[in-house]
Amino acid sequence: MREYLIHGGRRLSGRITAQGAKNSVLPILAATVLTGGKCLIRHCPRLTDVDAAVAILENLGCRATRDDDLIEVDSTTVTGTSVPEKLMGEMRSSVFFLGAILGRTGVAEMSQPGGCELGLRPIDMHLDALRTLGIVVDENGGKLKCRVSHLRGGRINLPFPSVGATENAILAAVTAEGETIITNAACEPEIVDLAHFLILSGANITGAGTGKIRIVGAKLHGCEYTVMPDRMATATYLCAVASTGGMIEIDHCRTDDLTAVLAALEHSGCDIRCGEDFIRLNAPERLVAVDNIRTLPYPGFPTDAQAPLMAALATAKGTTLFVETIFENRFRHVAELVRMGADIRTEGRVAIVRGVQRLHGANLNTTDLRGGAALVIAALGTDDFSRIRDRGHIDRGYENFEGVLSSLGAEIERNDY
Ligand code: UD1
Repeated sequence: MREYLIHGGRRLSGRITAQGAKNSVLPILAATVLTGGKCLIRHCPRLTDVDAAVAILENLGCRATRDDDLIEVDSTTVTGTSVPEKLMGEMRSSVFFLGAILGRTGVAEMSQPGGCELGLRPIDMHLDALRTLGIVVDENGGKLKCRVSHLRGGRINLPFPSVGATENAILAAVTAEGETIITNAACEPEIVDLAHFLILSGANITGAGTGKIRIVGAKLHGCEYTVMPDRMATATYLCAVASTGGMIEIDHCRTDDLTAVLAALEHSGCDIRCGEDFIRLNAPERLVAVDNIRTLPYPGFPTDAQAPLMAALATAKGTTLFVETIFENRFRHVAELVRMGADIRTEGRVAIVRGVQRLHGANLNTTDLRGGAALVIAALGTDDFSRIRDRGHIDRGYENFEGVLSSLGAEIERNDY
């Protein structure tokens, strides 16, 4: 069992640097397979999900070495075409290796990613996009077998701007013959980051970051790239500090990517100053409720910041309404917050959060990455001791979480037994 032990009640304050973006480095590592050369990827966060991506690359026959925040991938030789079931289970998002492996070898195999902690999370849009490019998909007994003899461009219209499906479509299309147009594409900054990496590797991509992306197939080569800062980790630290009435400066972040989160925190009473690459937040003694938080595709309020903000607003003055429109099951942290004394009622995709004066410590169970971070935020805001079990979910997305929080004055330690 791996857990966090937290003594709450400290006002957090200090200065930190944003980590590299998990949701950006994962598809970029998958994309290195397409380059057939050497790629140097900088600012890679040390996360278990990144370790899983590196293990998948090694399994495919690529050479991957890690030195601090630098990962070097040499995909000159690719000998494998499948993602082992164990690695698929460790990281559901390894599904975007499908587009990359197919682009490189014309064959790819992996197990179907099952339902996950956020709900069913099907991959129908990924597979339909691949079919449009001429890929034959055979789904049998939980196994996916894909093959294509001649990858060619096509017109892909996504029924919903899915981040993963957009990335998979881009990865499959960059080396396909001819032109691909993706409409209703997701506009998340991580997609722009993936496109920038691919363009530096020789790809011809325009429109990333808009709903219409145009790709003309090209031959790729290796390159050097620096991963963008993680807007979700940044949002989490802002919420943690806000909930304790503290102050923080986060350096090397991209404030434009965080507009919706910063607006919500400002409405909750925080004083926020931004430069081009830093955010300073000064929180009031007690936050005030925010009218209505509705998670939406970018540039709307990110679903990944919903749980951390909810934890912070659980002790705000007034009532906040959260509407989760992206995932059908992203309120699993609510039951744990309620065990800490929060007044939260959920009905379907709506959560009504009536701020209470104080939460109390408890033994808590982590159910997912952002929900787990939310429990840590809630625990830091109590005057009590809390034990947060199943820390592994949190390690998937936060680099040295307890170290960063300790540097801000939190009393938090790991306990592994
Ligand atoms: C990515 C992020 C995740 C973030 C999410 C939404 C990564 C590694 N993860 O996840 O942190 O919360 O975007 O911003 O980048 N859907 C389908 N069929 C599909 C694909 C998706 O029904 O083929 C549904 C999903 O179940 C979900 C919604 O579409 O309800 C959005 O999913 P999507 O945008 O694809 O999220 P991910 O790429 O999985």
